[in-house]
Amino acid sequence: MPFFQKKTDQSGVDFSRLPRHVAIIMDGNGRWAKKRGLPRTAGHAAGAETFRTIATYCKEIGLDYLTVYAFSTENWKRPAEEVSAIMGLLRKYLLEAIEKMERDRVKMEFFGDLTPIAPELRELIERTREISKHYEGCQVNICLNYGGRDELLRAARAFARDCVEGRADPDSLTEQQLGGYLFSRGVPDPDLVIRPSGELRLSNFLLWQSAYSEFYYTDVLWPDFSKEELLRAIADFQGRSRRYGGV
Ligand code: FPP
Repeated sequence: MPFFQKKTDQSGVDFSRLPRHVAIIMDGNGRWAKKRGLPRTAGHAAGAETFRTIATYCKEIGLDYLTVYAFSTENWKRPAEEVSAIMGLLRKYLLEAIEKMERDRVKMEFFGDLTPIAPELRELIERTREISKHYEGCQVNICLNYGGRDELLRAARAFARDCVEGRADPDSLTEQQLGGYLFSRGVPDPDLVIRPSGELRLSNFLLWQSAYSEFYYTDVLWPDFSKEELLRAIADFQGRSRRYGGV
């Protein structure tokens, strides 16, 4: 717990029992821009700034994992200009993150199939991964060309391959082993999944991992999402009773 924070402050958050892993669907960028008469790409640029603020804050308060949905397997259906603007924002963010990495020491990971991502961006992703591999503390997972179903399909294929080649046995497969075939291997399941912008769906995000996550929805659009909003979500989470199917 950071020294400057009392156990519970006016936000109502108990900083001594934060969720370990928070996942966020960064939704509402387009509507935020539309409300201001701006192009959708301006909404994504504002959303990328919000991501930066929230990721830094998560590290500051001592969260272990933050996972964000940046680009889904379905987002390729968007106009080419919008897709390339999102990729450009990621590139810009990673270039800046690499520069500040030694100072911030945030570990960065990427969930998703990176093969269709432009080689230059992929190279940046690999560099970011490599540099931050040994950092401890907060890990930020960026879901890029990620889909929950695609992730499960890949796991099924890889497991089937291991069975055919004699490395695995279908009858002894456990949940934990299956988890080892996912992009999220080694990362605990999200305790809290936040979706801003008033949409009440999961949109193919962390399907396997969110089996027992608590959900928090808010009408605030992602570019307007703030540290206070995050604390509100965490305080709400802390008031829930998690029973995992028990009583
Ligand atoms: C959903 O809002 C948002 C996206 C599909 C893109 C999210 C990307 C960023 C925030 C920028 C890059 C990310 C990083 C990590 C630097 P929407 O466009 O569906 O909004 P709408 O529902 O209002 O149209």
